[in-house]
This record gives sequence, structure tokens and C-alpha cells, in this order.
Amino acid sequence: MAHPSIVILTGAGISAESGLGTFRDEGGLWAQHRIEDVATPEGFARNPQLVVDFYNARRAQAAEAVPNAGHIALARLQAEHKGDVLLVTQNVDDLHEKGGSEDVLHMHGALNSALCSACDHRWPAPLEMHVAQACPNCAAPTARPDIVWFGEIPYQMDRIQDALERADIFAAIGTSGNVYPAAGFVQMATHVGAKTVEMNLEPGENVALFEDVRAGKASETVPKWVDEILG
Ligand code: OAD
Repeated sequence: MAHPSIVILTGAGISAESGLGTFRDEGGLWAQHRIEDVATPEGFARNPQLVVDFYNARRAQAAEAVPNAGHIALARLQAEHKGDVLLVTQNVDDLHEKGGSEDVLHMHGALNSALCSACDHRWPAPLEMHVAQACPNCAAPTARPDIVWFGEIPYQMDRIQDALERADIFAAIGTSGNVYPAAGFVQMATHVGAKTVEMNLEPGENVALFEDVRAGKASETVPKWVDEILG
């Protein structure tokens, strides 16, 4: 096929070599913090300060981080591939953008965005958000980090589903395949006959569903895969 349509899903593993911790690896974020406390609407209602502090710390860390060869290779693929490339990330950092990607779908939200829970207005988050910060649109004291928490619906699922229905190649990079709906994208892609490839340090939970499994660091596997696609 001359110009295959490609859908890429990235997870925390692609940012690991940029110094940002993953969630489920040993010593990862979910070993240090309880999901129920920092990544659910109920946790935010119970203790907004804890949640705002958690994302402020992650925002500060992400602001210092620099993209690695994995992010940069995907930006090159987007720029040079003649077919469609949809880059979907579960990551809330902006390392794909810093690596040169112009169109990145942040299905789990973004650290550099704030959201009003009253009117749904979004605006660029300051480096430090405060509890009960006022919304610049409706003035209600209802700002929250623009992160999709457990129990909430990921963003832009229609666009992702459309792209998966037309995909010729689906690649999952640095994601453990634990969190749905993202972990189910491989099944949707397989269903339409797409080639599927996993690039991960350790095999993900759903590794058996992929045709092509490449073990290794994203900074090595991703540039090699991109070279193959671009020929
Ligand atoms: P995980 O922490 O669950 O998985 C990270 C994956 O990256 C693992 O499979 C590792 O083997 C792999 N990995 C680690 N270092 C790597 C490297 N240098 N190169 C390649 N792979 C590497 O992170 P996610 O799958 O992204 O959601 O987690 C999915 C979602 O769960 C997150 O978006 C977050 C979390 O709870 C929310 O907060 C809503």
C-alpha cells in the first residue's frame, strides 16, 4: 500500500526516557499515590488541594522535560508520511508538541489546560493552579485541571473511532494496555484488517492481540519503525 493510514497510541512509556515517571512500572506514580485520591472526580470533591498539588507537581516536572528520540521520530512521521497519521496520546505532558508534532489528540486531557466544571470553558493553565480559582469566562470558582479522571469519558472518541475504522496500521507505544477504552483500540484496528504493532519495554496486558511486538526503549524502537514506514 502506497500511503497507509496510520493511527498511533502513545502512553507514559514514551516519556519515560524524558524523565517523567510512568504509572504502573515499579515505583511508578500509582505506587506513590492512590488513584482514588488524585485521579477521580470524587477525590477532587473530597480534597481539591491534594489533587491540585499533585497536578501542579506534574506540570512543573513536565515543563522542565525535553522530548526524546521517540517523540521526535513521530513528529517526523507526521510531517513526511503522505497518508493520514493520527497521533493519539494518553499522556498529559506536551512532549509530542515539544518534539514538533502539530496535531496531537490528548484523549486523557492536558496539564497545560484548565477546565471550568461549571461552564466547560478551557484556558491555558498557569504553572501553579489554585483551589477554587475563578473561571475567566463565567467567574465561578470552579477551575479544575483539564485531566480526564477515572469514571470520566476520554476526549474526542468520535474522531479516534473514525480514524481506527479507516486504519491500515495501528501502533501502540509505551502503554501497558490496562486502561480502557485506549486498551481496546487494537481490537478495533484488527477488526478492520489493520496491521498492529506494539512497542514497549515490557509487554502490555493486551500484547497477545498485536501481530508485531517490538521490545525495547521507545527512543530506539520508534525511530527504527518510522524509518521503515517512510522507507
Ligand atoms: P503505564 O505506566 O500503565 O505503562 C507504561 C508502559 O510503558 C509499560 O508497559 C512499560 O513497560 C512501558 N515503558 C516504560 N519505559 C519505557 C521506555 N523507555 N520505552 C518504551 N516503553 C516503556 O502507563 P499508560 O499505559 O500510559 O490515565 O497508562 C494509561 C493511563 O493510566 C494513563 O493515561 C493514566 C493512567 O492512570 C489517567 O490518569 C486517566
